[in-house]
Amino acid sequence: MKKRVAILISGGGSNMIRLVQSMQRDPDHPATPCLVLSNRADAGGLAKARAMGVPTAVVDHRPFGADRQAFETELMMPLMDAKPDIVCLAGFMRVLTGEFVDYWRGQMLNIHPSLLPKYKGLHTHARALAAGDREHGCTVHRVTAALDDGPLLGQAHVPVLQDDTPETLAARVLEAEHQLYPAVLRRFAAGDTSFLDI
Ligand code: GRF
Repeated sequence: MKKRVAILISGGGSNMIRLVQSMQRDPDHPATPCLVLSNRADAGGLAKARAMGVPTAVVDHRPFGADRQAFETELMMPLMDAKPDIVCLAGFMRVLTGEFVDYWRGQMLNIHPSLLPKYKGLHTHARALAAGDREHGCTVHRVTAALDDGPLLGQAHVPVLQDDTPETLAARVLEAEHQLYPAVLRRFAAGDTSFLDI
């Protein structure tokens, strides 16, 4: 029985697209996409998910203001209906409460655009450039209550070039994300939580 994967997005969903493609293009893949869920009705990834035949849903976070619990109670409805075994955060830009994270019992993954534990939080590419790092990259990790802090499942490394800007570096890292996340998801869905370094 294939593992059912729900993917949460907030924007264009380039990582979601690669995850869905990796599952749909390989009949032997241990997982199948069951839902693409966004907190923004205008997320470009929703139309792309529908075009790939993946069910979608939207729960707008704005009506709930600072009440994260109320938002997450609503967010849980389409998620529970989809019955996922794995939840992938892929450009999902809302901080989730410990209760929500704990409910998914270590079955929730996230991709972060830095070589964690370096540069948790935002503006990772500018911070790597400001630090003069010669190497940068991305990390897939299991989600815990602490932001960008869970057990690491994989990392991809990219060089920092002399004339890099945050934008050029972000683009190089995003390409690496598109390789790393599908590779880690496939292993994770097969029960392999060993660290992948590419
Ligand atoms: C990516 O940089 C990812 O690392 C971060 O969100 C950004 C956008 O991702 N979590 P996507 O193109 O929406 O998948």
